[in-house]
Amino acid sequence: MNAVITAIGGFVPPAILDNKKISETVDTSEEWIEKRTGIKERRIADDDTATSDLASAAIENLLENYNVDRKEIEALVLATATPDHILSPTASKVCEKSGLTNAFGVDLNAACSGFLYALETAASMIESGRYEKIIVVGADKMSSIVDYEDRNTCILFGDGAGAVLLEKTESNYGLMKSILRTDGSGTSSLLVPAGGSKTPASMQSILHRSHFLKQEGSFVFKKAVASMSQVSQDVLAKNELDTDEIDWVIPHQANLRIINAVGESLNIDSEKVKVNIERYGNTTSATIPLCLWDFREDFKEGQNLLITTFGAGFSWGATCLKWGIMRDDKTTKSFRANVRKKSVLTV
Ligand code: ACO
Repeated sequence: MNAVITAIGGFVPPAILDNKKISETVDTSEEWIEKRTGIKERRIADDDTATSDLASAAIENLLENYNVDRKEIEALVLATATPDHILSPTASKVCEKSGLTNAFGVDLNAACSGFLYALETAASMIESGRYEKIIVVGADKMSSIVDYEDRNTCILFGDGAGAVLLEKTESNYGLMKSILRTDGSGTSSLLVPAGGSKTPASMQSILHRSHFLKQEGSFVFKKAVASMSQVSQDVLAKNELDTDEIDWVIPHQANLRIINAVGESLNIDSEKVKVNIERYGNTTSATIPLCLWDFREDFKEGQNLLITTFGAGFSWGATCLKWGIMRDDKTTKSFRANVRKKSVLTV
């Protein structure tokens, strides 16, 4: 028994924060940001939009475009590093907003590796024979934890959500073997220091701006390149695949230079490596499903995809999957061309 993706949805909020605007608030330049990260703009949710709204919009897009009956869904695995609240779970709110009344919902936080960890979790649930239809969604409102006075981080992140429907199949399509890794010694290099049980919110934590994300950028950069390159090679070996049998690489979108370095280490044609970081920046749990959504027209039945990621924790991993048969996609080519042109994913 395998778990295969049969439907995809995506959503980004309409408001654009471009490099020009950022360069007016912190000491940087449009050129520096684009040259060092590949990012031109990112989407920012308004104050009334929480992570659960982003996730629900991506799910609505999936349910509507692929004619999926929401009552069939048995579970929702929500990857997010920016929950609506520390308690209660954001997945509960998403189940309510999306009308998933026959599903249980659970949050999973592995930062930028969240979607891959969630995919592996949901695939294992299906392969066990206990579940047949699970929605996996990656959603983050990174603007809620980004310090727009810190040029080391505010240039990188954006808001968005992507969702996939995983279904049981007896074909050989779907998720293959994965490798997921965690190294807690990396925690202090990339974290939001306050607001959790270790350093609860206080006047001091607010004064020190400790509720915002901090990172040692160049250290994380090197770790990301080395880890994603190695784990990608390892997962290919585990699945007995050669690089030339991979049709598409879907890397986590943190920095174009990381993506290029991983592609070069795999010795894979750059045309096969999917990139949309220029439009959305790093949307953390959402980068991989948004990439799958954005480029879904390119994926053909039977093609092999390699997905790889790295994030806070440290957490990283890779998986391979054989693209299967999608449910009927109601969206038309012209709609999609329009979506690409405008860089807006509407529901
Ligand atoms: N504008 C202009 N100059 C800057 C900026 C900026 N926004 N940021 C840093 N600089 C300067 C530095 O001060 C430094 O100046 P100096 O040489 O005079 O000291 C110089 O640029 C180089 O600094 P680095 O930090 O070495 O710059 P780098 O090329 O590494 O780029 C960046 C910084 C973009 C943050 C990069 O390190 C990066 O992308 N890191 C990885 C991010 C990542 O992958 N995160 C993991 C996932 S996130 C998650 O899990 C939530």
